[in-house]
Amino acid sequence: MRPPSTEPSADVRPRFPEGFVWGLGTSAYQIEGAVDEDGRGPSIWDTWAHTPGRIRQGHTGDVANDHYHRYREDVALMKSIGAKAYRFSIAWPRIFPKGTGQPNPKGIDFYSRLVDELLAADIEPYATLYHWDLPQVMQDVHGGWQSVETAKAFGEYAGYVAERLSDRVRHFFTINEFRSFVDIGHRGFDVDVAGTETTILHAPGLRLVPAELNQVRHNAVLAHGLAVQAIRARGAAGTRCGPAENIEIAVPAIDTPEHVRAAEVATREMNASYLTVMLEGRYTDAYLEAAGDDAPAFTDEELRTIASPVDFVGINVYRPAVYIVPADDAKGHRAIPFNASHPTMLSPWQILGAEALYWAPRFVRSLWGDREIYITENGCGTSDEIAPDGNVYDSDRIMFLRANLAALQRATAEGIPVKGYFLWSAQDNFEWNDGFGTRFGVIHVDFDTQRRTPKLSAAWFREAAARNAVV
Ligand code: FCB
Repeated sequence: MRPPSTEPSADVRPRFPEGFVWGLGTSAYQIEGAVDEDGRGPSIWDTWAHTPGRIRQGHTGDVANDHYHRYREDVALMKSIGAKAYRFSIAWPRIFPKGTGQPNPKGIDFYSRLVDELLAADIEPYATLYHWDLPQVMQDVHGGWQSVETAKAFGEYAGYVAERLSDRVRHFFTINEFRSFVDIGHRGFDVDVAGTETTILHAPGLRLVPAELNQVRHNAVLAHGLAVQAIRARGAAGTRCGPAENIEIAVPAIDTPEHVRAAEVATREMNASYLTVMLEGRYTDAYLEAAGDDAPAFTDEELRTIASPVDFVGINVYRPAVYIVPADDAKGHRAIPFNASHPTMLSPWQILGAEALYWAPRFVRSLWGDREIYITENGCGTSDEIAPDGNVYDSDRIMFLRANLAALQRATAEGIPVKGYFLWSAQDNFEWNDGFGTRFGVIHVDFDTQRRTPKLSAAWFREAAARNAVV
C-alpha cells in the first residue's frame, strides 16, 4: 500500500496577478563604495559617516559592497536567484559632483553600463534619483534641503538623468523616503506612540526648530514635483515616474468598518506633509492648524508643482506605524500603545505586523485613487551568520516574507493595483547608522573578503518569483 501523499492534489495556492514584478532593491551609498573614483564628489553621507561616533563601529560606505567594481557579478547573482527587476539608486554626486553645473560623464557612464548589464540579464531596471546622498556642496553653499535652490538643482539633475537613461530605464522613482531623510536628518529625534523621545540623527544631523523643519519638508516635496516635470520634459516618451515614500500606515486594530474608517483617516493625516500633499495638492486643515505659525511658506503654484501627476505610487512598508481604534472626539480615531511584549525583528523599530502590507496599498487606493502601486521596499534585518556547512539559515526572514507577502496577496486578490514588490535588500549592506552589523540582504556579504553567499531566503524568493505565489 502506498503511504498517503502529503501533497495536495492540485496547487491551489493563491497567485499574484499575471505580470507581477518580483524585484530586489539597494541604494548607491549603501553598496557602491568607490567614493573617490571617476570624479564622484563627496556627499553628506560621506561627511556624516566620517564624523567620529556617528556610525556603529565607525563603519563607512567608502568600500561598502564594492559594487562599483563588482556590479557584473552582482547582476549575475540577482539573475541566479530569480529577480525580474532591480531597484537601485543613482548617486547625485557622481552625476553632478558639485550638485549643479557641469555633469561628470564618467558618473552617468557607470549607470549606463549597469543598465545594459541588467537588460542583458533580463532584469528590468527601476532607478531611484535620490536615496539620501546629497552632494556636500549643496549643503555647504545652499544649506541643503533648507533651501529651495536644492529643490531646483534636484529637478535639473533629474531631467539630465532622464535624458541620458530613459531610452532604457522606463521607471524612475524621484525621492526615497522623504520622511526618513527629512525628519531623521533635520529634527534630531523621534517620538513613538507612547510619546517617548529617542535621539536619532542621520546626515546632515541638524536639529531644526519646527518652522524650519516644515520648510525642509515642503522643499523636499517641491523637489519631487520639479523632478516629475523635468522627467516629463526631457525623458523619452512613455517614461514613468512617481515617489517612493515610507508611508506611515495606521492599521485598524479590528477589521470592522468603524476601525477601518478610523485608520484610513489617521493614515491621511499622518502623511499630511508628504504623500497627502503630493497626491492631493493641498496641506490638510489639521496639519496647517497644528503647525500654526510654524506652517511652511508656500504658494498655490508650488502646490500645483508638488502634485504634478505621477504614474504610480511607490511605498516602503516595514511595519505598522500604529494600531488605531475609533474614538468619540473630533478626530474620530486614537492610536493605542504597542504592548510591551509586541514582537519586533532585530531592529527595535521594526514592530512586527505583516498586515501593514495589506492596509498600506488598500489605503493608498481608497484615499488617493486607482493608480498603480509598487511596494518599493519591504524586508527585515536579522542576525545572519554563515553556518559550519557554509549556508545561511535565515528562517526568521522567510517567516517575515511569507507573512508579509500573504498580506500583499490579499490586496491584489481584492483588485488593488499593486504592480510589483521590491524586497529590501538584494545584499547585506551599509545600514546607515547601524553600519554593516544589521543585515537586510537575501545574499550574505562577508565585508572582509567581499564574498557573496545567497541565504536560504534567496532560494525562497526564487521559488516565490517563479511560481508568482507565496511559498
Ligand atoms: C529604509 C531605507 C533603506 C534601508 C531600509 C532598511 O528606511 O530606505 O535604505 O536602510 O530602511
